[in-house]
Formats: sequence, C-alpha cells, structure tokens
Amino acid sequence: MNERQHQQNIAIFGASGAIGSAFVNQLANKKNNTKIFAFSRSIKQFQFENVASHSFDITDEQSIETAISIASDVDPLDLVLITTGLLHQNSSEKNKQKSLGPEKALSDLSSEKFKQLFEINTIGPALIAKYALPQMRKNNTSIFAALSARVSSISDNHLGGWYAYRSSKAALNMIIKTASIEMKRRNEKAILVGLHPGTVDSDLSKPFQRNTPKEKLFTPDHSVTKMLQVLDKLNPEDTGKLFAWDGQEIQF
Ligand SMILES: NC(=O)c1ccc[n+]([C@@H]2O[C@H](COP(=O)([O-])OP(=O)(O)OC[C@H]3O[C@@H](n4cnc5c(N)ncnc54)[C@H](OP(=O)(O)O)[C@@H]3O)[C@@H](O)[C@H]2O)c1
Repeated sequence: MNERQHQQNIAIFGASGAIGSAFVNQLANKKNNTKIFAFSRSIKQFQFENVASHSFDITDEQSIETAISIASDVDPLDLVLITTGLLHQNSSEKNKQKSLGPEKALSDLSSEKFKQLFEINTIGPALIAKYALPQMRKNNTSIFAALSARVSSISDNHLGGWYAYRSSKAALNMIIKTASIEMKRRNEKAILVGLHPGTVDSDLSKPFQRNTPKEKLFTPDHSVTKMLQVLDKLNPEDTGKLFAWDGQEIQF
C-alpha cells in the first residue's frame, strides 16, 4: 500500500498487545497524514496526536459495530489490522483453568477451550470483517489484514498438537478467503490477507519460546517492520491469501 495524497484512515484492533502496540507506534511515527483508531479491551493511551484510543471487546458484537462506526465516521477505512488473539490463559488465570493451555493430545481437548479460542480467534475477526468491509475505501486500494499463524496451515502441519488454536486460525483463514471472494464483487480495490508475524516475544508466545533459536525470536518491532513491508507490496491478486513476515505465501 503506497503512501497516497489523501489522509490514511487506520483501525487497529488489539492495540494493547505486543504486536498491536508496535503497529500503532510504527504507523503513527512513519506515515504522514495518518489518522489511527487504536482499539483494545482496556484503553491504551499512545503519545501521538494522530492516535485516538477506544475500548472494545472482541467477544461483544455490539462493541465491534460501535468501534467500526467510530473509525469510519468521517472517512472510509484504508487499513484495518486485527492483532487480537488467544493461545493460552496467562499464569494467574491458568491456576483457575488448567485446561486452557495448548493441547498435546486428544485427551486434553475441552469444549470450553474450543469455544473460547474460536470466539476470540475466529468469530471476533469475522464480525470485524462484517462491519469493517462495507466501510473500506472504494476509490483506492484498501487493506484488511488479520494476524493468523503458520500453524494454521493444514498442509504444513507436521508436528500435531495445539488442536483448538490451529483450527481456530485455519477457520480464520477460511473467513478471509471467503470474504475476499465476496469483496471482489462489492469493492474490487479491497485486499484481504492473513499474516504470520514469525515467533514474536510476547505474553502469547512466552511459555513456548524455549525451543526457538534466539535469532528466530523477533521483537514486536522487527516483526511489524517486516509485516508493513509485506502490506506495502500487496497486489489485488494477493487477496484471500496468507503471508509470512518475510513475504512468503503460506499454503493453507
Ligand atoms: N507472538 C507470536 O509468536 C505469534 C505467532 C503467530 C501468530 N501470532 C498472532 O499474533 C496476534 C498477536 O499476538 P501477540 O503476540 O501480540 O500477543 P499478545 O501480546 O498477547 O496480544 C494479544 C492481544 O489480544 C487481545 N485480546 C485478547 N482477548 C481479547 C478480547 N476479548 N477483546 C479484546 N482484545 C482481546 C489482548 O488484549 P488484552 O491486553 O486486553 O488481554 C492483546 O491485546 C495473535 O492473533 C496471535 O495469535 C503471534
């Protein structure tokens, strides 16, 4: 997505997260003539004049509808980024709900965990698409990107495990692909993609970083710099696909 004359209107969901906040900071710093709406569960303030922070809950459709109407009230949307996501409960909550770590075996599966991960990783982003896509700019290229994961790839699944997370993100990929087909009819300038950020140092990845070589554990800033380069190079034929931080397409 090249810099354009008109003001870039950007909505970022999950602005309190490691990757989400790095997106807000880099876009607010680097792009001139940009207005950013930063949505998170509890409001996170950023020290930029062009960033407006608001709360939203990805499990609450009404709050998603309200968020999109705030962000698209004056201008259509040029860029929507979904950086929310859940893999496990953090340690304080974990004591209460031990079953909510990623599953190693079928015996670890729980209906509760499936529902929670699908609600946050799949249904929430789908509802953001429901309200955001009709508000994307029509007379110029716009981008809708959601953070998926390499482990969502069915063809690349050699290790097994992580049933609910893998399948919630695979279903997210399907939502993106399906919505991209609908958008070809409704707004041919809109590009929809999933992104794999790499393994990034964050609360989400913390318990699983042990086997990641140091050079492959990215800072949120590094991952976001690379993903912004990927977004900058997207073409209309890329819509509906999943891309890694280095621009490689990941097959579903
Ligand atoms: N880190 C990695 O290595 C890695 C690898 C592959 C894919 N990803 C994907 O990248 C995305 C961002 O992950 P991250 O590493 O930045 O993790 P993170 O720092 O834990 O961020 C996750 C974000 O999701 C938000 N969230 C969770 N439940 C929510 C809810 N009900 N309503 C609103 N927001 C909610 C969290 O908000 P709160 O702060 O309010 O909890 C937080 O902002 C996720 O989709 C993840 O699956 C990450």
